[in-house]
Amino acid sequence: MSSAELSVFIRAIGVHTPERKLTNAELSTMVDTSDEWIKTRSGIAERRIAAPGENPSDMGAKAAAKALERAGLTPADVDLLIVATMTPDVPFPSTACLLQAKLGLRRDIPCFDVSAACSGFVYALQVAKDMMRSGAYRRTLVVGAEKLSSVVDWSDRTTCVLFGDGAGAVLLETTPEKNVGLLGNLLGADGNNAELLHCAGGGSAAPATADSLRDGKHFLRMNGKEVFRHAVRVMAESCERVLAKCDVRSEQVAWFIPHQANSRILEAVASQLNVGMDRFPSNLERYGNTSAASIPLALEEAWKDGKIKHGDLVLIVAFGAGLTWGATLLRWHEPPR
Ligand code: COA
Repeated sequence: MSSAELSVFIRAIGVHTPERKLTNAELSTMVDTSDEWIKTRSGIAERRIAAPGENPSDMGAKAAAKALERAGLTPADVDLLIVATMTPDVPFPSTACLLQAKLGLRRDIPCFDVSAACSGFVYALQVAKDMMRSGAYRRTLVVGAEKLSSVVDWSDRTTCVLFGDGAGAVLLETTPEKNVGLLGNLLGADGNNAELLHCAGGGSAAPATADSLRDGKHFLRMNGKEVFRHAVRVMAESCERVLAKCDVRSEQVAWFIPHQANSRILEAVASQLNVGMDRFPSNLERYGNTSAASIPLALEEAWKDGKIKHGDLVLIVAFGAGLTWGATLLRWHEPPR
């Protein structure tokens, strides 16, 4: 069988979230907000906050180690590492290289980051799949790891209530079996709307200065209403288009795992697709929006809770800064617990 016919499936999954919980009640003592406002507008009750010195590479390494342990494999078995993050430990080197060293992965493997904000995990899955189908890489770790607490302006109530920290990892493997694993996908971007959700300073265009720090240029800024509008339209469209591409009807999909941005966005997407919320598992209430980590966190939870079963069709869909978006349809292959 030629390598072009290989399928790529999720052999194991692992997550890691920081211990510290920041509740809405505690947030209400920091900015002018309330538990009721946050829950009603976003569905979030609490989020996790990384400890000082607990960075995306640390959280990602723990999530990846868990996935390897569940697969009964060791770091030496990994042929490729891709990290999706919008909060890299440092501007360079990549968080993937830092994670490689922490996890003790081999030195003869490529390690790199993918930058697609909250769509990063879906982008990274597709990059991994295409590299693996060539036959060059048998096992890949795809990690979504974020420390949004480091880019959030804790005095801006319109954003700080929404985000949290965490990491999730999947171990992908190739198989000659057909119609399993990552079946079809779609990715897109619209840089004309970059300013709807962005961080203006700290990069080479506007390096950090005393003035930029004073003006809070290193913080995430967002036009919430516009982002909401685009998110609903693009996530629903991405689902429809990937289903059409794979010749699958939405009734055949057992579970929709969307990027956990906001419960009202998820409800609007479900309603546009005419799918009940009982097929949209969510953990937003406990983690908030963890960007590239949110899909693996939600996927692991839905699987551990016994929702996702072997053979189920699962549709993951994301939206984020860029703007970026993506969807992947997969047939679940029961991973070891
Ligand atoms: N607590 C209390 N009041 C708040 C608040 C907070 N945390 N944040 C904003 N408000 C106020 C606003 O100042 C505004 O007051 P005003 O009417 O006196 O001006 C009022 O609440 C309504 O604000 P608005 O922005 O219209 O609320 P909204 O219904 O659009 O909800 C978001 C705001 C951010 C929750 C919503 O737009 C959203 O979820 N957007 C998408 C965000 C997202 O998911 N981004 C990531 C995508 S990957």
